[in-house]
Amino acid sequence: MYAANCASCHALKGQGGGIGPELSTIALKGVKFIEDAILRPAKSITPGFETWAVTEKDGRKTVGLKSKDAAGEVEITKATGEKVTIAKAEIKEIEQDKDASVMPDNLNEAMTVKDLQDVLAYMMLQKGQ
Ligand code: HEC
Repeated sequence: MYAANCASCHALKGQGGGIGPELSTIALKGVKFIEDAILRPAKSITPGFETWAVTEKDGRKTVGLKSKDAAGEVEITKATGEKVTIAKAEIKEIEQDKDASVMPDNLNEAMTVKDLQDVLAYMMLQKGQ
């Protein structure tokens, strides 16, 4: 369950993707918090993982996490893991989207109640050292 649906974005004990936050100590936040994070990701976006929408002067729009903000350019990491570098001179508008998370809010659609319980139980084992 976790490996198929979550590990592409989340690292756990050094394994997995680096798009979302590391989850090695997630149990400390409590089961209610974790359930909310899965069912309604946009409700409580983890600080540092806010969603940004960049519109370029040519009309192209890129949505994702701001993974780098340098003097002349920003780097946006999309939910797919693709990184897009955009020159600041080409940006028409950059704004934070507080109503959307890069974590999909329909993950539970593919899960049975038991799947969700299994994932929550697995998350509650992640207490760090
Ligand atoms: C497409 C990438 C992606 C997938 C797939 C994904 N997540 Fe996330 N997750 C994120 C991002 C980005 C955040 C940070 C933004 C937010 O809080 O909504 C996040 C936040 C979280 C948080 C809150 C972490 C904290 O410390 O506040 C939890 C818990 C979580 N995800 C669990 C899961 C679980 C369990 C699954 C699988 C059922 C999953 N995620 C699938 C990207 C993803």
